[in-house]
Order: sequence, then C-alpha cells, then structure tokens
Amino acid sequence: MPMNLAMPQFTEGFLEALKEAARRFPTPFYAYDLPQVEREVALFREAFPGARLFYALKANPRLGLLRRLRALGLGVEAVSLGEVLRAYRAGFGPEEVVLNGPVKTPEDLRVLAERPPYVVLDSWPDLRRVARLLPGVRVLVRVNPGLEVATHAHLATARKESQFGFLPEEAPSALEEAQALGLRPLGLHLHLGSHLDRPEDFLRGYRVLEGLRGAVGPLEVLDLGGGFGPALDLKALAPEAARLSALYGAQLWLEPGRRLVAGAGVLVVRVWGEKRTGRPYLLLDGGMSVFLRPALYGARHPVLPLYEGEGEGVYDLAGPACEAGDVLAREVRLPRPEEGDALAFLWAGAYGGSMATPYLDTPAPLEVAWTGSGWEVLRPRGRIEALWAGEG
Ligand SMILES: Cc1ncc(COP(=O)(O)O)c(C=O)c1O
Repeated sequence: MPMNLAMPQFTEGFLEALKEAARRFPTPFYAYDLPQVEREVALFREAFPGARLFYALKANPRLGLLRRLRALGLGVEAVSLGEVLRAYRAGFGPEEVVLNGPVKTPEDLRVLAERPPYVVLDSWPDLRRVARLLPGVRVLVRVNPGLEVATHAHLATARKESQFGFLPEEAPSALEEAQALGLRPLGLHLHLGSHLDRPEDFLRGYRVLEGLRGAVGPLEVLDLGGGFGPALDLKALAPEAARLSALYGAQLWLEPGRRLVAGAGVLVVRVWGEKRTGRPYLLLDGGMSVFLRPALYGARHPVLPLYEGEGEGVYDLAGPACEAGDVLAREVRLPRPEEGDALAFLWAGAYGGSMATPYLDTPAPLEVAWTGSGWEVLRPRGRIEALWAGEG
C-alpha cells in the first residue's frame, strides 16, 4: 500500500523527550506528540474554514486525546455503541457525535434512545430500524459512489462491491422515506476509504454527489467523511468541497481520523536479541498484538533507533508471536543494538493503539502523551490478571 516514509513533523523537543521516556517507561508503549495533533487540526481549519470537524475516534480513542480535541471544538465520529459511549464519557454531547456503521443492532439503538447522536443511515433495514427505535432523530444518508480509489483493498469503502451505503440512485428515496418515517434527514454522507493520498479520488467522489443535487434539492448538511492520508494536499480538494456544499446550501462536515494523529504517534519497543536464520533478525518485545498494521495491511513504517550503536546492520524486525507473519518491518538499516536498546516505529499514532489486541494474553500497551513540557499517561499498561478477569 502507499506509505509515507518521510519523517513526521515532530514538535521541537519531542524526540529528546522520547529518548528519555524510552529509558523510563516499560516497553512496548505508544507515545504521542500532542502539539503536533493540534497543528494538524489547525491545518484542517485553515483548509476548510467553516467546516465542522468530527474526529473519527477509531483512529485513536484515548479519552485524554478526545478531551483535548473537544476543547479544540471538534466533535467525533463513532462506529459502534462502545465508541459513542466512550465519546459521552469524554464529555461530548449527542450534538457532537455522528454514529456511522453498517450494523446498528436494536440493542445498540435502545441504549442510545435517551441521548441519540446524529445517525448515518447505511441501508434500508438500518433506516427502518433507526426510524422505529430512535424516532425523530437527525440522520444523514450514506451514499456509496461505486468508485475505485488508490489505497489498500481493506480500506476502500466506496467500491461498487463494498458493503457500505446506499446506491447513488437510491439516495433521494432514502431521504424521502426517512422523512416519511418521522426521522429528521439533514443531508448526505460520503466516505471513500482510508489513507487516500490522491486529491483526484476525493474529487471523483464529490462529482457523484454533485450529480444528485437535482434529485435531492438543498440540504442542511453535507458530510464528506474522512480518509485524508498523511501525504494528501488538503488544499487541493478544499475548494471543491466548499463549492459542493455551497451548491447544496449545506454546512460541510468532515470526519478526519488518521490524518490528525498518525504522524504524532510512535510505538517504542525494545530489542532483546539478534539472530540469524535464513534472514537476519532483531527480536522485539512488541509485535502484531500491539501493532497489527504491518500484518493486517502490509503497512510499512519507518523505524528510528533511540540508541547509539557501534557499526551497522540490516535487519528484519520480528515480534514475540509464534507466527511467521509477526514481522513489523523488513530490511531496516540500523546501528547494531545492545540487548534492551529501544527503537521507535513512526507514523503509528493512528490505528496502532486502537487496534492492539489481547491475542496471546498480551496486556494493552502503555500509552503516553507529550504535552510539550512533560508526559501524561493516557492509558496505563494493562494488567495481565485483567486478561482473564470474569472467566472464573
Ligand atoms: C465513515 C468513516 N468516517 C471516517 C473514517 C476515518 O477515516 P480516516 O482515519 O482515514 O480519516 C472512517 C474510517 O474508516 C470511516 O469509516
């Protein structure tokens, strides 16, 4: 998949602080440069003045991060009951939360009945169920434009064969039916996929919505989703997004996830040995359980040594799982480490900690945030005993 291998724009002082943190904190741990997240928010504000931003919290759901983003005036986009309740826990109100996703069960909707967020309707059964269980709620209709976009196949959500949204030709009647069933349709929703670095992909999606303007009429809201890749030039699509929302007389909503947090986060692991089989390996204390992206998407993340070493080697970096696929990077040139030396995987702030799993009874990794002057714990390292709590 396309991967930006450049060094992230860390805030001055972050890397020094990280080296010091690597001596202090147990590995593996995630560390986030919060001022950098704030700069990314500012870039969105500058590119899309007047747009409402709903941070896609699946990218990184830590409460301390959510509270900071709320203080900056963002809402959040959620895709599960758990994510909505997490957002409420962080202090967001229903007016600040957009609930997406192809499956919202009756149980989910009943729990949300007292404080319903905005809901994005994804199919006819979803529309009818939401109308029945959340009467009067404000909704958007998600359109699947049926487009190929340049990203990993798992991340392309607006292809003809993907499971999301209504066909463009169904959108007008979905809005009408929502109205007829007592919902409050605000507008249309589009999300093309994740990690999109080419403006043309967004522009093709916008053109599909433009084609619906005649049949749909003016709208209150046009939600153009997330998907903004780290290397995407926001300014190359912002004028078209503004023109499209003006065409509908709508307020523009956006749901950036990855772009706000990816570059700000690193995963720090320690090397516990060097070994040569058919290939030269360094053996790490963190692998696919804490950082799934390389195994799941073939994602390539640059690696930064946090130590000085004598001489150099080229290594594959393997995690502790008994799976041949648990290799976080291959052919990485590094100074020769001593046992216990730490290194950092870069561009790990999005879909890193949020995708960590307890596979192999691995406790959740510590997650810490650098404020510019010190470290705050966003999530303590999980306790091993908690992994079997409740099982008897
Ligand atoms: C509906 C929706 N909105 C926003 C996002 C966030 O995408 P990204 O993190 O690429 O910005 C996603 C991610 O899959 C999504 O499904």
